[in-house]
Amino acid sequence: MTSGGDLAQIVKQQADIVRVVGDYVPLKPRGMNHWGLCPFHQEKTPSFSVHSGRQWFHCFGCGKSGDVFTFVQQVENISFLEALRLIAQKLDIKLPKMKYSSEHEADDAKLRAQLIEMHQRACAFFEEQLRKPEAAQARQYLSGRGLSEETVREFHIGFAPDSGFLLKDRFKADYSEELMRQSGLFSWKESAEANIYSRFRNRIMFPIANDQGKVIAFTGRTMATDEKAGPKYLNSPETPLYSKSRVLFNLDKAKEAVRKLGYAIIVEGQMDCISVYSAGYKNVIASSGTAFTEAQVRLLGRFTKKVVVNFDPDTAGAAATDRSLGMLLEEEFEIKVLRLETGFDPDLFIRKRGIEAYNKQLMQAPGYFDYLVERALAMFPVRTPEGKHKAVSYLLPHVHRVSSRIVREALAGDIAQKLGIDSAVLRQEFRSAAASRGVAKIRATELKISPAEKVLIRAASAVEPKERAMRATALRALAEERLHEGMSSEALLQAILEAGEDMDDPMSLPLEEADRNLLAEVVMKDTQALTEELLEGSLESLRHRIQIYRREREIKRGIIEAERSNDPMTLLRLKQEKLELDRKLAAAMS
Ligand code: UTP
Ligand code: MN
Repeated sequence: MTSGGDLAQIVKQQADIVRVVGDYVPLKPRGMNHWGLCPFHQEKTPSFSVHSGRQWFHCFGCGKSGDVFTFVQQVENISFLEALRLIAQKLDIKLPKMKYSSEHEADDAKLRAQLIEMHQRACAFFEEQLRKPEAAQARQYLSGRGLSEETVREFHIGFAPDSGFLLKDRFKADYSEELMRQSGLFSWKESAEANIYSRFRNRIMFPIANDQGKVIAFTGRTMATDEKAGPKYLNSPETPLYSKSRVLFNLDKAKEAVRKLGYAIIVEGQMDCISVYSAGYKNVIASSGTAFTEAQVRLLGRFTKKVVVNFDPDTAGAAATDRSLGMLLEEEFEIKVLRLETGFDPDLFIRKRGIEAYNKQLMQAPGYFDYLVERALAMFPVRTPEGKHKAVSYLLPHVHRVSSRIVREALAGDIAQKLGIDSAVLRQEFRSAAASRGVAKIRATELKISPAEKVLIRAASAVEPKERAMRATALRALAEERLHEGMSSEALLQAILEAGEDMDDPMSLPLEEADRNLLAEVVMKDTQALTEELLEGSLESLRHRIQIYRREREIKRGIIEAERSNDPMTLLRLKQEKLELDRKLAAAMS
């Protein structure tokens, strides 16, 4: 058996961070690093850097940093062990049986594995039920809605029978009741000791998968038309596996096509999604009727930044639709809006008007702002000043969400022309909107460290075998000469010194955020190769600095003493010397 820690080392050695990160973020080499747009915060110029030598990433914008595991964990929102497994899988590294490093992680992984297995089995159970004689009505319903047997198979559509106990009986021998409660597949009355029963009854079952294709939840459509049957679509509750706000329906099947075609079609409903998919548009995903969350938009953003939204025309202007569009806009998606005629959702449209007609609409879909201007023109009489004012007020909050100033300026010109307004005036209006956005620009601290100090930090934190000797020299200089005293990197260098020669990754030291940023700043942005000569030269200059620094400290003490003992002559001499030393110190640091 191997422990998770050993295994992590093995995987880390084989996993090239540039390759793994490159699967999520387009990277370009510059200097010794690779750069791209940070997946953890919104930005237009790359401040996200990946260092292949160090096997480390750092964002100079938002300060996130870590190794390949941290990256995958955060970007996928999964546990360490899941990240380990995922990376191993991606790189085709065979994992031996592993001992979990902590009880908690082991329990967590086991629970999730069991829940996944239950969902897999539940999915098969629902599919099996759909083939039974009792499900004749369900099959009829599906074919009546134009779903072929092939589509039913492909989406693993099933049927939850009316009985509340069949699934439970099936699970009884293998899973505890507690586990069944956690799965979200069952319900129970609040009165204690009450029995559990199937949450989904007499419903058409649609499995919901994560982007890896594992079933983690269900949504069930009622076939009943009476009110008592509950909601039209009943979803799994939040469970350890499933968080509604993080999943996009059909992304697992659509992601390849989305990447290939360079855009995604977004619809609201599962049935819409399945219809559009069956019509040949494999790049379709569904938002499941709720407003997009940031997590969902980020998830999609891993595959494309272009979308055609095909929401229900009747919900245009509804809060959820506006929020979704706003979210996409803020994450800088290029958006087109496909608006079908009133009363038609994509599913109905394709069935009534055909695929050709749908394709035509898709091709003609206007850009988001063209669409908004059309709506404004339809709603307000823009020939009057009041109408113009209302139209601008209507458009303003949308423009407000565009983060690029260049795009906003272009929009101003375009919109002004369409509404018949002076474009300079509108531009002014848009500009002030931008100013009130109040987006806090996160900037890495500007650093005041000397080139010599940088070299010392690089050497002390060097990890490559060929740099071992330089590392030892640097650590010795720190320990014996305390060259770091009084430098802005004093705390960082002290931490490195204390970690000793065996430390294998300085980035994993428990550092203050500012110090971690400092370290990243130095190692990620190095342009000059580290050599013995460079190090020796730097140490010399730092020795010079430390002498001045120590002398200055003495003088400061002397000044305090002279002030106390009221000795103006000494005070004047010391102050003069201090000025001189300040100047020298500044020179030594540049
Ligand atoms: P719609 O009411 O537009 O239904 O809800 P639909 O997609 O056209 O469904 P069909 O064609 O009648 O079968 C849009 C989406 O909102 C979610 C579902 O994801 C649905 O597909 N929804 C709707 C729910 O989650 N619960 C509900 O009760 C209703
Ligand atoms: Mn519908």
